[in-house]
Amino acid sequence: MVSVCVVGAAGGIGQSLALLLMRQLPYGSTLSLYDVVGAPGVAADLSHIDNCGVEVKFAAGKIGVKRDPALAELAKGVDVFVVVAGVPRKPGMTRDDLFKVNAGIILDLVLTCGQASPKAVFCVVTNPVNSTVAIAAQALKKLGIYDKNRLLGVSLLDGLRATRFINDARRPLAVAQVPVVGGHSDVTIVPLFHQLPGPLPPKEQLDKITKRVQVAGTEVVKAKAGRGSATLSMAEAGARFALKVVEGITGAGSPLVYAYVDTDGKHESPFFAIPIILGKNGIEKRLPIGPVSESEASLLKEAVPIIKKNIELGESFARSNL
Ligand code: LMR
Repeated sequence: MVSVCVVGAAGGIGQSLALLLMRQLPYGSTLSLYDVVGAPGVAADLSHIDNCGVEVKFAAGKIGVKRDPALAELAKGVDVFVVVAGVPRKPGMTRDDLFKVNAGIILDLVLTCGQASPKAVFCVVTNPVNSTVAIAAQALKKLGIYDKNRLLGVSLLDGLRATRFINDARRPLAVAQVPVVGGHSDVTIVPLFHQLPGPLPPKEQLDKITKRVQVAGTEVVKAKAGRGSATLSMAEAGARFALKVVEGITGAGSPLVYAYVDTDGKHESPFFAIPIILGKNGIEKRLPIGPVSESEASLLKEAVPIIKKNIELGESFARSNL
């Protein structure tokens, strides 16, 4: 069956994510947990849950150890890595402020995991996603195993938020998934509400909802007041996303998801959150973004140069550290 590894499994996102995966992975799957602190405890705890038929494995890392042999061993035979390791924001910080610490973490983890399982699909949650995915791509290129269809930046939380906020505003009308494209930070997050069926709220209200989606991560950071950023909703989004990847690679389905991926020359930005179809080899198909309203078009125009700069930052970090 399928083997999924949560990298950063003992942190705020990792623990909830591991629980959600444990409950929902297909019977007979393996769930591997890695972290630099706390992995044995999370593994012991989870492995007492009955009747889910998921084997739990773990490796305990050590802070500061690069290319950790314990992770390299655990990572063998893994089909899907969900990387959530890294530091979260504190009030007043942007996602880009995390770059200094998280860039080095993602580079090291992807090198270690990629070498152990060159055919695995990587789902990157670690922020700033707009840059960390570009770093991961460079790390995989360095190993000579880069596959543009097997590297996915997880931007789905923006979709959950957009869906929640618009459904709250249009009750009892409800949609299952709002398309959100662009990147995963502030103005680079572009919800495409005009693609939804049914009447939309007046422009002023819709603009407010769009803005709220863009700054929703900061809303959580402020509310947590120094105790991190979104963990529960992020875990829910990460688990849903990883389970779609599993659905694709196991041949159980061909789900459509929105993810921040290599656009394969189909967009002016090398990485962008777009609609994709998942399948046995990761991304099976990149779909067009579809029709956008005038206001959405101008949001997209604003997002592109910022995302390109975020990518360039990630690539130049990788160039000097590989
Ligand atoms: C989020 O969208 O909540 C996450 O990216 C965490 C953050 O720092 O905002």
